[in-house]
Amino acid sequence: MRKPVIAGNWKMYKLHDEAVNTALELKNQVANATHCEVIIAPVFTALKTVADRTEGSNVNVAAQDCSTHTEHSANTGEVCADMIKDVGASHIIIGHSERRQFYGETDESVNEKTKACLYFGLTAIVCVGESLAERESGNAQTVVKTQLNGALKGLTVSDMERIIIAYEPVWAIGTGKTATPEQAQEMHAFIRGVLAETQSEESAENTRILYGGSVKPANVRELMSENDIDGALVGGASLDATSFAQIVNYK
Ligand code: 13P
Repeated sequence: MRKPVIAGNWKMYKLHDEAVNTALELKNQVANATHCEVIIAPVFTALKTVADRTEGSNVNVAAQDCSTHTEHSANTGEVCADMIKDVGASHIIIGHSERRQFYGETDESVNEKTKACLYFGLTAIVCVGESLAERESGNAQTVVKTQLNGALKGLTVSDMERIIIAYEPVWAIGTGKTATPEQAQEMHAFIRGVLAETQSEESAENTRILYGGSVKPANVRELMSENDIDGALVGGASLDATSFAQIVNYK
């Protein structure tokens, strides 16, 4: 049985106090949600306070990126995965399409960051997804398979226990254009098939695969009814505690 995961990616939104207040509101509104794991990913500067103030609740905290390096070293502007763990976060989002598109993230760096995250015992939420042009030219599966294999290169079956995959078609992010449940299910089943080939049947069966791209209270239930959709990675609709709580409480 795969326990669903509902994760909110706050991207570069919210000053420190706003992030803390939203997290506190959310904590109350999802206090009875035991059917899924709840994760929020605030900006680095709010991580510690959000993690402190949600400690002991069912809200888990994620960072949105980390360094490829695992040694404390001269790398201005970077944040080591153990520094993220140190302030109370349990997860790191890695390889988000915005980082791939705008910040030079490659399959190699995604792989290194995933390994850095695992090295310190954190769980990686590894993002994959094709662009509109790639989908329209019939290459969506090839692109996703390449990203997946690149990200997970060299991982063992036991590493896979701390991997969550997020399928986020770039054309559905922030556009209001959600993949249909059928389109998402098709890609999720494909991803599970790739994991079965490259890892093991068992890890394919146990790995949670989240859908991301314009998930809202109005469409989450339909998406979650698909067999291979194990949760959601939510951007815009996670910024408001009430809207995100409605997504968490989709049942
Ligand atoms: P939206 O939900 O705003 O489309 O963003 C999705 C996303 O990028 C989550 O990581």
